[in-house]
This record gives sequence, C-alpha cells and structure tokens, in this order.
Amino acid sequence: MLATKNNLTTDTTARRVTTDSLDWLKHPDGFVNRHTGPDAGDIDKMLAVLGHASLDGLVDAAVPANIRLARPLNLPAGRSEFGVLNELRAIAAQNQIFHSYIGLGYHDCITPPVIQRNILENPGWYTQYTPYQAEISQGRLEMLLNFQTMVCDLTGLEIANASLLDEATAAAEAMMMCHRLQHEEGRGIFFVSQDCHPQIIEVVRTRAQALGLGIVVGSHRSFNFDGRIFGALIQYPDTYGAVHDYQTLVKEAHAVGALVVVAADLLSLTMFKPPGEFGADVAVGSAQRFGVPLGYGGPHAAYFATREAFKRQMPGRLVGVSKDSRGRPALRLALGTREQHIRREKATSNICTAQVLLANMAAAYAIYHGPEGLKNIARRIHRLTAILAAGLERLGYNVGQASRLSSSARGDTDAQEGRLPYFDTLRVELGLKRSSDLVKIADAHGVNLRVIDPKTVGVTLDETATVEDLRALLQIFNSDRPVDLSLEELADQPLPVIPASLARTTPFLTHAVFNRYHSETEMLRYLKRLESRDLSLTTSMIPLGSCTMKLNATCEMVPVSWPEFSRLHPFAPLSQTQGYQILFGQLEEWLAEITGFSAISLQPNAGSQGEYAGLLVIRKYHQSRGEGHRDVCLIPTSAHGTNPASAVMAGLEVVAVACDKEGNIDVADLRAKAQAHKDRLASLMVTYPSTHGVFEGNIKEICDVIHEFGGQVYMDGANLNAQVGLCRPADLGADVCHLNLHKTFCIPHGGGGPGMGPIGVAEHLVNFLPGHPVVEVHTFSGDNPKVELQPIGAVAAAPWGSASILAISWVYIAAMGAAGLTESTKIAILNANYIAKRLENYFPTLYRGHGGLVAHECILDLRDFQSVTAEDVAKRLMDYGFHAPTLSWPVAGTMMVEPTESESKAELDRFCDAMIAIYGEISAIETGRLDKQNNPLKNAPHTADAIASDNWNHPYSREQAAFPAPWLKEHKFWPAVGRIDNVYGDRNPVCTCAGMEGYPA
Ligand SMILES: Cc1ncc(COP(=O)(O)O)c(C=O)c1O
Repeated sequence: MLATKNNLTTDTTARRVTTDSLDWLKHPDGFVNRHTGPDAGDIDKMLAVLGHASLDGLVDAAVPANIRLARPLNLPAGRSEFGVLNELRAIAAQNQIFHSYIGLGYHDCITPPVIQRNILENPGWYTQYTPYQAEISQGRLEMLLNFQTMVCDLTGLEIANASLLDEATAAAEAMMMCHRLQHEEGRGIFFVSQDCHPQIIEVVRTRAQALGLGIVVGSHRSFNFDGRIFGALIQYPDTYGAVHDYQTLVKEAHAVGALVVVAADLLSLTMFKPPGEFGADVAVGSAQRFGVPLGYGGPHAAYFATREAFKRQMPGRLVGVSKDSRGRPALRLALGTREQHIRREKATSNICTAQVLLANMAAAYAIYHGPEGLKNIARRIHRLTAILAAGLERLGYNVGQASRLSSSARGDTDAQEGRLPYFDTLRVELGLKRSSDLVKIADAHGVNLRVIDPKTVGVTLDETATVEDLRALLQIFNSDRPVDLSLEELADQPLPVIPASLARTTPFLTHAVFNRYHSETEMLRYLKRLESRDLSLTTSMIPLGSCTMKLNATCEMVPVSWPEFSRLHPFAPLSQTQGYQILFGQLEEWLAEITGFSAISLQPNAGSQGEYAGLLVIRKYHQSRGEGHRDVCLIPTSAHGTNPASAVMAGLEVVAVACDKEGNIDVADLRAKAQAHKDRLASLMVTYPSTHGVFEGNIKEICDVIHEFGGQVYMDGANLNAQVGLCRPADLGADVCHLNLHKTFCIPHGGGGPGMGPIGVAEHLVNFLPGHPVVEVHTFSGDNPKVELQPIGAVAAAPWGSASILAISWVYIAAMGAAGLTESTKIAILNANYIAKRLENYFPTLYRGHGGLVAHECILDLRDFQSVTAEDVAKRLMDYGFHAPTLSWPVAGTMMVEPTESESKAELDRFCDAMIAIYGEISAIETGRLDKQNNPLKNAPHTADAIASDNWNHPYSREQAAFPAPWLKEHKFWPAVGRIDNVYGDRNPVCTCAGMEGYPA
C-alpha cells in the first residue's frame, strides 16, 4: 500500500488492523510529514478548490497515462530522521581519517568554528538561491565581493569572479577564454606543463578534445613557443612542490601572442610573487585550504582572476558595485548575470550554479585571519616543511627538485641554487627504498603519502600539521624507527631564502574588511549582519520556477560536518573510504531506480557539468560506432540557456526547434529538423516536464523521432521533482539525463552553489561514463558489469565531484522512502496547481498541459499590464516579505512559480494573498487611482530608512509602502537597499572593495 499523507497521519488504527507486524510500534514521527508542507486537512481543502476528489485523481489528470510508471519505486521504505542518521553513522564509521600529506591541490585545514556554525551549518546562509534579486541578497553579495577582492589581491590581477566549480574546470575555462581571445587561423594549440596536477591536465585535455583544440603536455623548461600556441598552463608551486621563476616563460609566450594561465595556490601567494606581477594573464586555483573542509573532493570554491581588459570574456558570475534608487552603493551581479540565457550558444561558459557558499567561507576565513594571520599560517607551514626537509636530508634522502634541474633549458634563475624553492611540498627520492614499503609503514601510522613513482614520494604539509606530526613522518622515513634528531636543533636552522625574483613584496588585503573582524565577537556580528540582509528560506518561500527551492532538512545537513565525511582527501586509498563507497553505491542504485537508467556517474558537480558530460558520452557513443561525424544538437527554443552553452562546449552545432502556442515542442518542426540533419544528428536536449511547466503528452513520440534519425536523447533533469515516483526519464525514451541534486534531492543552493549534477545513462552508454586519472571510479551497472571501458575522460577535479554533499541526497531518499518520494511529487503538483488556480483571475497561467493542469510549476502572465512590468511586481513582492518567482524566463514579461511540496497551504495562501494585493495596486495604477510613476510598485522595494525619512514625498502612505499585509506586523524583512540601477553598474564597473584610502583612519 502506498503511504499517502492522509493515511500516514490519520490511519494508524487501520494500519494496526491490517498489519501483523510490529510496524505500529515504530516512532510516530515520520520524516515525510516534516518534509511536505500541507497536512491531510489542507490537502483536502486544496483539492476542493481544484475540483478534484483525491490527490491521485488530480495527479492522474495532470500526468498523461501513457508515461506513468505502473509500479511503486523499488526503494527501501522511509525511516525516521533519528533512524536514518544512526544508519548513516554506521556507514560513516567505515571511513578512516588518515593524516593525508598527498597534496595535489587538496589540503586539510581548520575551519574556524565561528565560520562553521554561522555559515556552513546555518540555513540563513545556505538556503538562498543565486542573487538575481539583488536588493534582498546584499549579505552574500558583499561576502562575494570580499572573495573577489581577496583573489585579486593575492593573485595580483585586476578582476576576479565570484567562484568556479573546481581548480581543474577553472583551468579548462581559462583555456577556453585564451582561445576566444587569441583565436586565429593556424593558432590552435594549448601548452600544458607536465608539472601541473594530473587531474587538471586530464580535465583540460577532455575539454580540448571536445572542442578540437590541440594540447601539448610537456616540460615548461624546454618547451619552444611558436605562433601555433594560443595559451599555456603552468602550476605555481608545481605539483611536486617546486616554485619556478616563470618570468622568462611568460615573456616567450607573449612574444608569440600566447596567453599564460597560472594555476596557483592562494596561501603560497602570501609569500611568493603573485602571478599578476610576473606577467600572467589568468590565475586559477582552489580556495579550499581557506577553511573549507576536504569533503573527499568537495564542494570547494575555485577562483578565476584575469586582466580588466578580458572581463567580458570571463566565465562565471561577477559581483559588481552599482547604486540604488537613493544613490547609495548597492551590489548586484554584473555584466552577463544570466548570460547563458542571453547569449546561449555564444555564452562564455555554461556555468550557472557555482560554489558561492564555499567562496563565502573562504572569504570569511581571510577576513577572520587578516593579512598578517594568513602570512603567519603560511610561514608556519613553510617552516614546518623546511624542518621536515632538513630532517629528511639528515636521514640521507634527496629532497626537493635538485635532481631534475639538469633538464632546464631556460636557465631559470632559481636553478642556480641547487634546489628549487618550495612552499609546503617536498619531493623525496627514496634511493634504495621503495615507495610501496614506505607506504606500508605510513599506513600503520594512519598517514597517507603521495606516491610519485616506485622510488619517489611527495609530502605536503597543511595548517593542521604539528611538530608531533613531523616526528611521526621522520620515523616513517626512518624505517619506522624513532629518529635520533633534535627537532629543536633543526628548527633553529635558518629558513631557506626565497630568491628576490620569487618573493612577494607587495601588500595585500589592505581593505578595512580584512582588518576589522579578528575577534570572534566582531566576526560573529559581521556574519549575522550580512545574514540579515539576505532573504533566505528561513524567512519565507522562494518560489523560483525551475529551481526547486524545497526544504533542506537539518537532518540532511548534519552529516556533512561529520569528520568521517569532511576530512577525507579525495585521493585517499579506497580502502580508507569504504563508508563513502557504500554511500555512493546505494545512492547510485537509488537514483538508477528513480530514473530507470542502468548506471549513474556522480562526477559532474553542477547541472551544467552534467549536460556537458552527458553530451560527451553521446559523442563518444557515436564515435564508437564509426559515426563520429554526428555533431548536430537539436534544442527547443524554450530550453534553459545552459543547454546550448553545454552543447557548444561538447563540440556540437546547435539547431533550434520551435515550440507551438501551447508551449510544447512543435513536433512537426522537430521532425523536419531531424530529417534535414539526419546524417549529422547527434542528439536532442529536452527538459521534462518542459520549462513551460507542462507534461507534454507526446514526449515518447519526440524521443522516437530522434532515435529514428540516429540521434540520442539528452534529458535535462532540472524538473525531475515532477517525475519522481510517477514516471522515469529512461522509460520516456531518454538515453542520458542529469539530475540537479541541489533541486530535487535537497542539496541547498548555498546562495548560488554548491550543487551536484550526476548523470544517468542507458545501458549502451555505460562504458563511456567519466573516468579519473588518479582514482579508479566504480560505476554501478546493475546486472551488467562493464567490460570495455572507454571513458570520456574526467569532467571534474575529484572522482566523485562534491562528494560530501552526496550525504544530503542520501539522507533525503533514505528518510522519504519510495512512498514518501512519490507522495512528495504529488504534493508538488498539487501546490503548483493550487497557486495557478487561486491566481487565475488575476495573473492567468500561460501554459497548461494535460487535463488543463500544470506540472510542478506555473508561468504567470503579466504581459497585459500597461503601466507596470514583471520586474516591478518582483520588487514589490519584497515589501510583502517574499522573494520573486523566476522572472521573465522562459518567457519575457512572465513569472514562473514553483512552490515545491515543502510549502504549507498557509504559506501558499500568504503568497497568493500578496500577489492578489499587488494586483489590486496594479489596478489602481492602471485606472489612475495611483500615480503612474510615483507608486508603490515603481518605488519598490521600500527600505527602512526611506520609510523613516523626513522626506516622504509619495502619494501613498508609509504604511501602504512597508506594511501592506497583516503578517508584516508580526515579522518584517527589510530590503537592505532600494531598487538597484543595473545599467549604471555596468557602465561604471567596480568589482572589488574600495581601497583603504576610502575609509577614515
Ligand atoms: C532547466 C535547467 N537546466 C539546467 C540548469 C543548470 O543547472 P546548474 O545550475 O546546476 O548548472 C538549470 C538551473 O537552474 C535549469 O533550471
């Protein structure tokens, strides 16, 4: 029997009678009732408004019968929060926390507790969406501006964005930017230093192959630049720890018109010359070690900095300063805010969800420590590394890069010294010993070293390292015998001198924000102040269509901070990560059942990356059949902007398919385009239910048309929240689908990330799923174990993407169970239809599907109003305490509302009441009862200081402005700034904090 909300809450007697088990002795507090908003009584009332007798009757009417799943999902039954967390604890206990000295761009670090509790574990910081409604997002926008300032300062470059997904994909984005900038006939090769981290090389190589760009991986010491090279990527310090003087290389690259990308460690830049000062054009890297837990690979924020001149070619989101309606500084996303939607296949990248929460944490870490604190942390790590180097040398090891100097053809100044400078990483040549023997000893000490080759290992220290750790390390290198060395004596040796050509001499983080909040009290208040400027799910519903802003339950979030999940290095041996392997296996199995696919790859770390990965899989499949020439991708005009942007990244040519007046794919046009391109047809990208919010009855026919002409169907799973338990992408005919775990499966949006975009694939595509150069990734494939793997390469830096947040989706599915998940889909459909119905006489729903109903979201049409725009309504909603629905997408002049199953009837009613009240205000404007310009909508949002001002020169009352609805007397959210002038900001771009000179001494 399917457990519905009705019988879960009221039918306990019946259950007692019909079951002979002890089920009724289970704790009565089921999670499903916590996750879904309306209770049984509300559901009945809402159904009555909709004229349906039962929830199942409504769903039968909304979802076409021919696509329905005829059986319940085959998943475990739901469990209590308490029970699920206990179960997950047992799984987590199978992970072993070793001290990892593996390095490779990942470092254990100390998350200051004030940041852990007040950002990472705080729904006031993690439940927001990307700050499109800037007036109610000033808190995280300010922290992102801090992040950008920090990156600019540390890298010595002029402009930085508000985070990218990881270091490796940031490097790939940089390669693409260099290509856009320097592209010309005969110039198509990107040079990659062989001393970059292997995962970076692999991700860049995968990206280049898709775009038909040449890659040369070689020694930066001997590479000869010529006019065929458009860019170069070098690592600083390199993957083995050496800090090179790249000035000559940069000059040589520039001399032939190539741009230089430096993958740099941010902490090391407190001591070493920043890339911008030795001529680099782009710097990329990870901000992970700035207080963000390892998390077995993520989520972490990558950074991307470049020259001002290249800002319009930069990937990702950029926060900039503008002014509000009262002329005061106000922040908002600058330039191409939603640029994929505007530029589609011409977009600079497909990045949509990035890593905002983690960028905020990294910026907060820099603020808390300040420039001196960061320098001290870096110096301490460097000193510990120097002591270790001295100790290892006393033990007879060849430490550092000395033996590799002979290969230098450039005569780098650093080569004179006999050993290259290092920061935190040593390359240790073992002489007669073998790496494998050393690793065995290390293992017994709970230590991971990096195995470089059978006779060389790497050791990377981080801020958690102690003198005791050094002693243990030296004992490991001393064949497990305690060392007869005085660390005190080694510590007294002078530190190796950083050559003047490599030393940092310029100040950084001089802005007041990095010098004010060093006590916990000050920091706490700063974080709270920023939090209070953001409207998050802790205030009210965020009905953003296509974004699925559902509950991010506390029980789902709790495990993310458990050390067994958060302190594992992504390249730790699999034997230490058994708990994670169990979690991945179960999650893959559950997602495969939910989608109907044969296998899941958990690597892509955003929906956009899932799209790119899925399309690469499709390309590889065609190539494997000798049909590599198939390179046309059909995309309906209603598609999300990431779709065409991803198709281009996968090397495909985009052909648009029309939609009919009902908002459905125009099947005749689809057939005509498929036929016209039949020899080159690679795929269709289709979102289901469509971005127009309806279940298209002919989705199976649409998939059949594509298959008939030799193409594959890529389903964008952003709207999976309307499918779970009712229908499955694979059964509809899709071959690949990405799942935005940060929508349907409860990972919070973090204010613009993190997210996860795993892909599911049909059996014939399993062998092509992403691989990884460092860790072997296993992929669940049901009864069909893979035989001949032909992976597309890596699409993210870490083998399982942002692994630690997969625990969130695991808890959600485990706690909801098959019946709970299906129930929640039905309520999502109920809630959307209830809003559409309540608002139909004010704001008609643009498209309706099967049964005259919508799916899980509805598009409200505001295009008939003469005097106000959809944007005015969005800003006025802020005065009522609400975040606007998705604005003018996918149809200009409309609002797309997605309430999700987690909102109660009371909250839906409040939202509808606000919209109806705004309709009343619009009517007053349209009929001349309110002024056409000086009215509550055009002046919205109203700030507290505007209301308190002595200059109130509006023909409506202060009360109408700020307290237009009764609930506002109980709780009022005040927008921090008035309406923001976007045009001004784009004309006068400022994307870092002002300098110290702007502040009184
Ligand atoms: C329909 C659709 N496709 C793709 C995406 C991109 O997903 P992500 O932001 O995770 O990259 C979104 C994000 O909003 C979306 O709504």
